[in-house]
Amino acid sequence: MKVTVIGTGYVGLVAGACLAETGNDVICSDIDEEKIARLNRGEIPIYEPGLEPMVERNLASSRLRFTTDIPESVRASDIIFIAVGTPPDEDGSADLQHVLAVAKTIGQAMGSEKIVITKSTVPVGTAKKVRDAIQAETDQPVHVCSNPEFLKEGAAVDDFMKPDRVVLGVDSEYAGKMLTELYSPFVRTGNAIHIMDIAAAEITKYAANSMLATRISFMNAIAQLCEAAGADVDMVRRGIGSDSRIGSAFLFPGVGYGGSCFPKDVKALVRTMKELGADSSILEAVEAVNERQKRLLLDRVVHRFGEDLSGRRFAVWGLAFKPNTDDMREAPSLVTIPALLERGAAVIGHDPVAMEEARRHFGDRIGFVDNNYDALVGADALVIHTEWLPYRRPDFQRIKEALSNPVIFDGRNLYRPEKMEELGFEYYSVGRMTVNPHEGS
Ligand SMILES: NC(=O)c1ccc[n+]([C@@H]2O[C@H](COP(=O)([O-])OP(=O)(O)OC[C@H]3O[C@@H](n4cnc5c(N)ncnc54)[C@H](O)[C@@H]3O)[C@@H](O)[C@H]2O)c1
Repeated sequence: MKVTVIGTGYVGLVAGACLAETGNDVICSDIDEEKIARLNRGEIPIYEPGLEPMVERNLASSRLRFTTDIPESVRASDIIFIAVGTPPDEDGSADLQHVLAVAKTIGQAMGSEKIVITKSTVPVGTAKKVRDAIQAETDQPVHVCSNPEFLKEGAAVDDFMKPDRVVLGVDSEYAGKMLTELYSPFVRTGNAIHIMDIAAAEITKYAANSMLATRISFMNAIAQLCEAAGADVDMVRRGIGSDSRIGSAFLFPGVGYGGSCFPKDVKALVRTMKELGADSSILEAVEAVNERQKRLLLDRVVHRFGEDLSGRRFAVWGLAFKPNTDDMREAPSLVTIPALLERGAAVIGHDPVAMEEARRHFGDRIGFVDNNYDALVGADALVIHTEWLPYRRPDFQRIKEALSNPVIFDGRNLYRPEKMEELGFEYYSVGRMTVNPHEGS
């Protein structure tokens, strides 16, 4: 099939590469000239395991190409995905300007019947706006569908190649048949393709992300209770996660959810619910808990070392919002680090892949080291934001020798409190006992 994907970010690039991998002729188009020039040189602008060889392979076999000529990319294909960003507007609603600009371009460029699919996360009712924007420019027949994307950054290629399910909101039997065919290589093991009405598909995406965010905030609230009651949240997590009605995923307490999706999607769903007169209070609570949780490490540091942190130095392990990605959008580190700097502290950061991205945020206001142990030298404490694998079983002796105080603020519960006690660390985690607390903490 001839497929165009407009918007070559995390979602569009992965979708384009995976669709080319299964034999389709794919054009990825984008307005970002620098990004397209890099992609044409074989450079991948994002960190995503497995993506680079897949793009190289498909570029070499000419099944995949990149262009900034969006009208040409529309004319060349029968199936067109819209995968541009939908950032939050000032009031929290999804900003549809990029989606609708693309819809207009599609309408102006198309010279024959097309299937247009919104893969961007868009509020219920957007497909109609997309259809109107296209039909304002053309008399050609158009099928507008919704195919929300559920991939996880850091495992995006795997998720696209082996999705738990594919959700297709379609407006005609023809569109449903074409898209089922397009997705059939990805669901050979029997995972479901759910064909539904367009509004249900649009809502499914927000409901899924909001449910996952709710589980995280719920566990963060339980973690706060555990701290107050002297219980261990890890035990509670295992105790409830083994219930098959609940399941064990997304029950880890921590420093709050971040990234490009959960924060904006929860906000946008609250906005939509309000607009349509539905009760959004549950999601407003989810957001409020998350805002508090993102300040947790900072509050702990301030409680331990005082408001004035001048002359203090902190090692930060983990800058990305989660492991296996360089994405720092809405990362909890973006809350802690600026607040430490404002209070006069020096910060030395490490992340296995997000340091280039972090430099764009912090410039030379913080120091960066290639080796995570180098961040510790002379630091008053280690602050952990991201559960990267290399941080999970570190050389504790080396940490202790390098730090000027053996203090660790662990936002991801990477280590066992009993072990930290044995090793002589002052250790703060989430929803578990504090080990060797400083007098007055
Ligand atoms: N990142 C994720 O994990 C993820 C997962 C599922 C769904 N989504 C959703 O998918 C959509 C895209 O997310 P992303 O993370 O890939 O965004 P991104 O910011 O990484 O990429 C968006 C791309 O769209 C391009 N673009 C913007 N306006 C354009 C236009 N008028 N014409 C052509 N290209 C244009 C930008 O240059 C950019 O390359 C969003 O709606 C997001 O909510 C994201």
